[in-house]
Amino acid sequence: MQNKLKELKQKFISNLKTLKVEEELEVLENNLLWKKWELNNILKWIKDLNVDEKKTVWVEANKLKNFIQEEISKKKVELEELKYNEMDEREAIDVTINFPSKELWHKHPISITTSLMEEIFISLGFKVEDGPHIEIEDYNFEKLNIPDDHPARDVWDTFWISDDINKNRKIWDKYLLRTHTSPVQVRTMLKWELPIKIIVPGRVFRYEQEDSRHTCNFYQLEGLVVWKWVTFGDLKWTLDTVMKKLLGEWVELRFRPSIFPFTEPSAEIDISCQICKQSDPNCRMCSGTGWVELLWAWMVHPKVLTDCWIDPEVYSWFAFGIWIDRIAAQKFWVNSSRMFYQSKLKLNEQF
Ligand code: PHE
Repeated sequence: MQNKLKELKQKFISNLKTLKVEEELEVLENNLLWKKWELNNILKWIKDLNVDEKKTVWVEANKLKNFIQEEISKKKVELEELKYNEMDEREAIDVTINFPSKELWHKHPISITTSLMEEIFISLGFKVEDGPHIEIEDYNFEKLNIPDDHPARDVWDTFWISDDINKNRKIWDKYLLRTHTSPVQVRTMLKWELPIKIIVPGRVFRYEQEDSRHTCNFYQLEGLVVWKWVTFGDLKWTLDTVMKKLLGEWVELRFRPSIFPFTEPSAEIDISCQICKQSDPNCRMCSGTGWVELLWAWMVHPKVLTDCWIDPEVYSWFAFGIWIDRIAAQKFWVNSSRMFYQSKLKLNEQF
C-alpha cells in the first residue's frame, strides 16, 4: 500500500513537470483529487487492513493529498505568471517610440469643443460634474417631471437595458441608456450641497432615425445653477458670453418659447448659422433658415426642486442644455454632425 502511495506521488510529480498550460493542470487536479481521485481508491482498499496499518496509510494518504494540493496551487501561480509574461511580450507597446507621422493621432473635434467649453464655464465659476451612461428611469424621467404617461416621453426615444435585467426591477428603477444629461441635475440636487453651479458634459443616447443633424448617440453639455436671486438675465448673459467666447463676437442668439416638462417656462435657443453666415438657402446645417437650434434652457420647474427636497420659495435657479456635436459642427465648419461618428481620419486630421 505504501508503495502504491509512493508510485502515485512519483506519477504526480512527473506529470506536473511536463505541464505547460493551466487547462492541463485543471485536468490533473480533477483526476487526482476530485472526480476519479486515485487516492480515494486507496482508501477503499485499506478497509481490509488492521487498525494500526489503516491509521498509517490514512495519515500518509492525507499527507499526499495535502502535498498534491499545495503543489497544484504553486504550479497555478507559476503558469499564470508565465502566461502574463508571454502576453506582456506579445502585446508590448513601446510608448517612447516615435510615430512616423504626427497626423496619426488627433483629438476628436467633439473632445476639442468639450474641453474649450469646460474651460470657459470653469472661468465663470462652474464646476464639472459627471454621471453614469446607464441610468435609472426615475432620474432620467420621473424626477424631471416626465411621468410614465407624459406625452413628452415620446420625444425621448429610449434604449432600454435588456428585459432579463429589467424584469425584476421596480417600474421607476428600470435601467436605460440616458437620453439626456439632465438626470445629473437630479443626482447633484439630491446631494443637497448649495449653491449649485455645475456643467455636465457627456454622451447621451436616443433611438433616432439618423440624418445629417441626428445621430443615435451624441454629446450634450448640461448646466444647472441653484442659488438665491438667480434670474433669467443671468441665464441669458451666461449663454451669450459662452457662445461668443466659443464661436466669435458676431454670433447671435435667438430665444424661442418652447416646452420642457422640467423647466417652466422653457426656451429653445438658436444661434446664427456660422456655416453659411445666414446666406445660403441650400445650407444643410440650417436648412436655409439661417438659424441652428443648439441650446435649450430656462428656469427649473418648481416640482423638480421639491422632488429633490429644495424649497422653490427660497431658491431660484436656471438650467440649460447644449448640443456639443452641433456646436462642434458650427465651430469647425462641418456641415453634418453625423460625420463625427464615421471614424474618418481625414476629417479629424484637419483639427
Ligand atoms: N434635457 C433636454 C433635452 O435633452 C435639454 C434641456 C436641458 C432643456 C436643460 C432644458 C434644460 O432635450
